[in-house]
Amino acid sequence: MGFRFVSIKHAFGLAVGSETTLRGWVRSRRDSKGITFIELNDGSRFKSMQLVVDAGAVPDETLKQVTTGSSIAASGILVESPAKGQAVELKVAAIQIYGGADPATYPLQKKGHSLEFLREISHLRVRSNTFGAAFRVRNALTHAIHTFFQERDFIYVQTPIITTSDCEGAGQMFGVTTLNLQQPPRTPDGKVDWQQDFFGRPAYLTVSGQLEGEIFALAFSKVYTFGPTFRAENSNTPRHLAEFWMIEPEMAFYELADDMQLAEEFLKYTIRYVLDHCREDLEFFNQFIEKSVLATLEHVAESQFGHITYTDAIQELKKSGRSWEFPVEWGSDLQTEHERFLSEEVFKKPVIVTDYPKDIKAFYMRVNDDGKTVRAMDVLVPRVGEIIGGSQREERHDVLRQRLRDAGLDEKPYWWYLDLRRYGSVPHAGFGLGLERMMMYLTGLKNIRDVIPFPRTPGNADF
Ligand code: 4AD
Ligand code: MG
Repeated sequence: MGFRFVSIKHAFGLAVGSETTLRGWVRSRRDSKGITFIELNDGSRFKSMQLVVDAGAVPDETLKQVTTGSSIAASGILVESPAKGQAVELKVAAIQIYGGADPATYPLQKKGHSLEFLREISHLRVRSNTFGAAFRVRNALTHAIHTFFQERDFIYVQTPIITTSDCEGAGQMFGVTTLNLQQPPRTPDGKVDWQQDFFGRPAYLTVSGQLEGEIFALAFSKVYTFGPTFRAENSNTPRHLAEFWMIEPEMAFYELADDMQLAEEFLKYTIRYVLDHCREDLEFFNQFIEKSVLATLEHVAESQFGHITYTDAIQELKKSGRSWEFPVEWGSDLQTEHERFLSEEVFKKPVIVTDYPKDIKAFYMRVNDDGKTVRAMDVLVPRVGEIIGGSQREERHDVLRQRLRDAGLDEKPYWWYLDLRRYGSVPHAGFGLGLERMMMYLTGLKNIRDVIPFPRTPGNADF
């Protein structure tokens, strides 16, 4: 005989009469008529296990230490629960205390806290309902992403985090240096002497793994990256992080239409997977965070995405009669307000906008025959706006060189990227999904700081 240790998730599936030990953190404790009710959670699922301690079952000295936030092991027998919403509860025979938590100072109390307050205690917020649910969904989502690509014979490639080329050409990179910033070595003409730096030239944290992804696509045909990316854009918005995770598939022999089809299948697959595997967590979000989450996700998993060109989208925005914060003119980039209008009001579902003006998009996008637009595609979704950015790539050597020049970029660091267009070049395409934008879409959480474990934003790198 002996109590078998299981996770709480597992315990809910065991037969009545099973002897088990559960370990976790106390969410709440309530005493009533000599019986103590304890909600125990170990993060394995949303639902806590109710522990029932009859008077005298464990020493008073021990029971006293069972407070909200304390960590314990409880051994007992699973019995049918009279309480509604749960099949079983644990009738406790013994409790072991791991660590106490002083009720006078433990910051997480039963009453709800604002998400802003919880952000300041990121070391403890993971023990709350909202963040427990969010990070279980995030886990399931990452699993779904790998499964989707692995089932389709994509090769997972780990692209470098430290780089010397700017993928987006937007100059939003964090520098990486070991030089003494107080007194950097200087060249005779007074400039910083990067030759003396660790890599012998300026280096940065990557903004995207795409360029290296293209190298692999031109050998393995279908590849994807899944890693952290960094952008020093000083925009304090609810949808921008300085450090975020991006998934970037890159496919040889794909044109823009193939790229868009893959993006749609990919989003639907991962949504379906999370609906099927995280029901309990999503139901919580649906009830307490965003009432439309479940209906939206079910709808999207079944419907066709909308399609519109940038030029037609500009027409739609103009004829809407709305007064926009950012002006709508052919040639200016779409802002979140425009993106949300298109997906929420015009299409009422995800929509893919294509063929943007070349001057507002990155140098690597394939130029259309009109010479003015590029084969770009952005997937916009209700509530979030842009969730995916992608394109067919410029595979023509001469055109690409010209694009680099037009963008004011130095060709030299891109020598290998240009080489790919000299040796066995093929049409190819890819896209990038922002993991946290996807998380916002799945959970209904409105601030991107709440869907990543430890957000990095201007002025904030705590934890
Ligand atoms: O549109 P972006 O900049 O595209 C690229 O980086 C391409 N290299 C992708 C590719 O074609 N392989 O970024 C892709 C996505 C955006 O649609 C958005 O979801 C997310 O990355 N993203 C951000 N997420 C959070 N914080 C930021 N600062 C983000 N910037 C982009
Ligand atoms: Mg983009």
